[in-house]
Amino acid sequence: MADPVQSILKKFTQKDKSNLIPILQSIQVKEGYISPAAVEKISKHLRISKGHIYGVASFFSQFKFNPSGRHSIKICLGTACHVRGAQIIAEEFERELGIKAGETTQDLQFSFETVNCLGACALGPVVVIDGKYHGQMNIGKAQALLEKLLGKTEVKES
Ligand code: FES
Repeated sequence: MADPVQSILKKFTQKDKSNLIPILQSIQVKEGYISPAAVEKISKHLRISKGHIYGVASFFSQFKFNPSGRHSIKICLGTACHVRGAQIIAEEFERELGIKAGETTQDLQFSFETVNCLGACALGPVVVIDGKYHGQMNIGKAQALLEKLLGKTEVKES
């Protein structure tokens, strides 16, 4: 099977630094994240340092350097959610999942991140799990959602 990163690089025949962002975007879409191996290949292709690539990519929040988990959990820490205790709920998710915000569990089941305002402030604190909004979140509801999700995961794996 063709290497997806090399296939993308082949489309950018001009070894021009200005191709860096479009290349990163294409890899992000195809792979879901920018792996160290991809950075290495881009570095060789465009003849620029890996440090430069990481520097540019880190500037844009759209680029991820780790694979995403099967389930995405986001909690809003915007002002309206924050004043209603979102931070404590975020810490509960971190404790239960054993990861920090912005990370993915080792088994690649869960990615957890914090965001700033999801545009549903009246429902705050808001948690979005796999694209579904859950409002008026509290620790008990968060634990129940996580248990349900963990249950689903175990059922699918068996
Ligand atoms: S501050 Fe959380 S949805 Fe707006």
